[in-house]
This record gives sequence, C-alpha cells and structure tokens, in this order.
Amino acid sequence: MNPYVSKSLWWVGAVSSVLIALVSYRYFIPSIPVPSNLAANLMAKPWLVVHAGLAATALITGPWQFIPRLRARWPRVHRVLGRVYVFSCLVGGAAGLLLASGTSAGPIARAGFGLLAIVWIGVNANAFRLALAGRYAEHRQWMIRSFALTFGAVLLRVYIPASQAMGIEFMTAYRAISWLAWVPNLLLAELYIRGLPRRRRPAVATS
Ligand code: HEM
Repeated sequence: MNPYVSKSLWWVGAVSSVLIALVSYRYFIPSIPVPSNLAANLMAKPWLVVHAGLAATALITGPWQFIPRLRARWPRVHRVLGRVYVFSCLVGGAAGLLLASGTSAGPIARAGFGLLAIVWIGVNANAFRLALAGRYAEHRQWMIRSFALTFGAVLLRVYIPASQAMGIEFMTAYRAISWLAWVPNLLLAELYIRGLPRRRRPAVATS
C-alpha cells in the first residue's frame, strides 16, 4: 500500500478510536443515564461498565502498537501497552460475550456479537502466544486481525447514525450491524495481510 495512504488511514483510525473510547468511558459516570435498549440487556449490571471500560482501553492502547519507530525505540513501552491491550480484549471480550447473551435485540444480534466476542478472544490469545514464542511476523499478522475486530466498535458507532439517516428501522439496522461492524473488516485485514511483502510474512513450511 502507498505509504501516504497507509499513514492517512492510520491517523483516521487512531483519532476515531481514541474519540470513541473517551466517549465510552461515560459509563463510569453514574449520573449519565444508560440508553433504554442497553438498560434492557439482562447482563448490563455489572458487565456493561466492565466491558465498555476495558474495550475502550483496548481502543486507546491499540493504534500505537503499529508504529514501527515506537516499537524499535521503546520496546518496553510496546510490551507494556501490548499486555494492557490483550488483557483488555480478553476480559472485555468475556464481558462482551455475557452482554451478547443478554441483549434485548434478539437472536441475530446475540449471534453477531457473541461470535465477535469469541473470535476476538481467540485472535488475541493467539497473537499473545505468538509474541511470547518470539514468532513476531505471525504476531504482527494476528494483531492486525485483532485491531480490525476492535475497530468494529468505531464502525458500529458510524453505521448506526448512518442507517438512521437512511431511514432504516433501528432494530433491523442494529441486527445487521452486529455482523457488518466486524465481518468485512476481518476480510479486509485478511486481504491486507496477504498483500504484505514476503519478509513480513512467516515462511511457509514445505515438505
Ligand atoms: C470486539 C468485541 C466486542 C464485542 C463482542 C462487544 C459486544 C457488546 C455487546 C453485546 C454490547 C451490548 C449490546 C446490546 O445489549 O444490544 C456492547 C455494548 C457496548 N460496547 Fe461492545 N463489544 C465489543 C467491542 C467493543 C469495543 C472495542 C468497545 C470500545 C469502545 C466497546 C464498547 C461498548 C460500549 C460503550 C457499549 C454500550 C453501548 C453503546 O454505548 O453504544 N465494545 N458490546
């Protein structure tokens, strides 16, 4: 990918991730009311605060991990932020799975969010395992997949108002978005990974 395009994409991704994360921390302020469709989630107490807090932390810590110069100059910062990111995804994902089971939006949204939570947990566990094993090229690929999923939280918050502006009924849109917020991103991440130069991809074993 052209470096200007990838830098611009990174900036848009990083700024939108930080903004959405900061807004999501509002669930820690008791005087701000929870929207009615979320208050109706059977698992909202206490899992909404746990989930929103940790998932927002993943959004804030994730983007910096992709800056090569930061990784090279301050490897310790990369390792510490990486651990915070993975912890946030794993525990935030487990809370997301509980929330998915309690959603008031029905089985399609339950399956969409539920599968996202399971894939998010699996992808992050694998990315962390690869880092510990020193398999950094593969670790990088799995972290690209991971952040493509994490970024779904930003897209969900773009798609919902966009669908409302298009006049689509809220619940119909919400159910579709529980899938559309992450499946296309994961496919795009996969295409991007396949386009990476060979040196950044792990060697394929031949028999
Ligand atoms: C990637 C895996 C994720 C899963 C499986 C997931 C799952 C869920 C579920 C099931 C709900 C409740 C929806 C309902 O009751 O209808 C929810 C709400 C919420 N999630 Fe996530 N989520 C994920 C990522 C994130 C991320 C990265 C953030 C970071 C901001 C986030 C922040 C929130 C917030 C703030 C809410 C409350 C709803 C709102 O304010 O729009 N989630 N999530």
